[in-house]
Amino acid sequence: MSKDTFTKRRAAVPISILLLILSGLLYWFGETWSRHTLLYLSKAGWARALVGALPVAKQVARRFVAGETMSEAVAVTRELNSRGMHVTLDYLGEGVSNRKEAEAARAEIIRLFDCIAEERLDANVSVKLTQLGLKLDHRLAFENVLAIARKAQVTGNFLRIDMEDSPLVDITLDIERRLREEFGLANVGVVIQAYLYRSEADVTRLIKSSTGVRLCKGAYMEPEDVAFPDKADTDRNFVKLMKLLLGTEARAKRVYVGVATHDENMIGATKAFVREQKIDRAEFEFQMLFGVRRELQDKLVGEGYRMRVYVPYGTAWYPYFVRRLAERPANLWFFLSNFARR
Ligand code: FDA
Repeated sequence: MSKDTFTKRRAAVPISILLLILSGLLYWFGETWSRHTLLYLSKAGWARALVGALPVAKQVARRFVAGETMSEAVAVTRELNSRGMHVTLDYLGEGVSNRKEAEAARAEIIRLFDCIAEERLDANVSVKLTQLGLKLDHRLAFENVLAIARKAQVTGNFLRIDMEDSPLVDITLDIERRLREEFGLANVGVVIQAYLYRSEADVTRLIKSSTGVRLCKGAYMEPEDVAFPDKADTDRNFVKLMKLLLGTEARAKRVYVGVATHDENMIGATKAFVREQKIDRAEFEFQMLFGVRRELQDKLVGEGYRMRVYVPYGTAWYPYFVRRLAERPANLWFFLSNFARR
């Protein structure tokens, strides 16, 4: 046996144990526990080091990630545009640990806006504030996002600020409000998570200020005092918020809504409401993640709805990938079976 093969086999032992624990959890405790375990692992540095080093993990992650470089993201965007889809590009990264990383992310995202303009892509950009240094220094994150939003404005484009875990919701909404009110940057929008109890109040405020909103269910691990523990309640709230965001007041305020879900019930409820209220299809769009429910994406485009695909790229794929595993246990089986085949 070569030294290389020996090293790989030795590394495979703790990883196999980790994966065995995960599959055991999934089998014995069901979806809720495995979701919680995966969401914990998405933040754990040791798990990132372990799984991030696995070539098979990187290969499976490719299902959800366009590639590691901007040019790979451009190629995927072009292909989606040719199928009638809009795109939002996301340079992967979150929770950076120093200023240098935050500034490097800012530089990459600014280049990304230039690239979208030069390549004439139909794409805007999504960003996470912790990638720009929010956990290090609020001022640093603000300066970084301000520079990015200005770049979006001069290139005639739009910046979406993704929503992260609940302790960051207030500061995220506040930063977006300052960009709009103090710097006149109306080309910035936010994300609302239907699993949070507070979201109805936030939506009401965002409608009054004509802010563009992406509505999603929410992808993080949240305690019961801030988020609905039951999926059925989150789904009910999603429909309620969708109706507010597409309602008469929101339309009068020209709020543009991204209905971000792969759930056919949520999509069906949105279509029914739009039909009932005779809402123009240009007033909203559906949004889905790259690599998820591709056939449904094509179907909605075929039916004449606007569809935007969230396309992440970069090397920091680990937490994004593990959140995608947490959303659907079948993804975990897919990962495990690929691993077992090696
Ligand atoms: P749900 O989880 O109920 O899934 C419905 C069905 O969709 C599943 O049964 C399955 O068929 C399919 N599906 C869903 N997820 C899948 C996956 N990962 N792999 C394969 N199939 C899957 N969250 C957040 O907290 N902050 C944010 O900023 C964003 N941004 C964002 C942008 C866009 C464009 C999308 C589509 C989603 C987000 N999210 C997000 C993630 C969101 O909160 C949520 O976790 C996922 O969209 C999954 O929820 P669904 O609404 O799809 O429903």
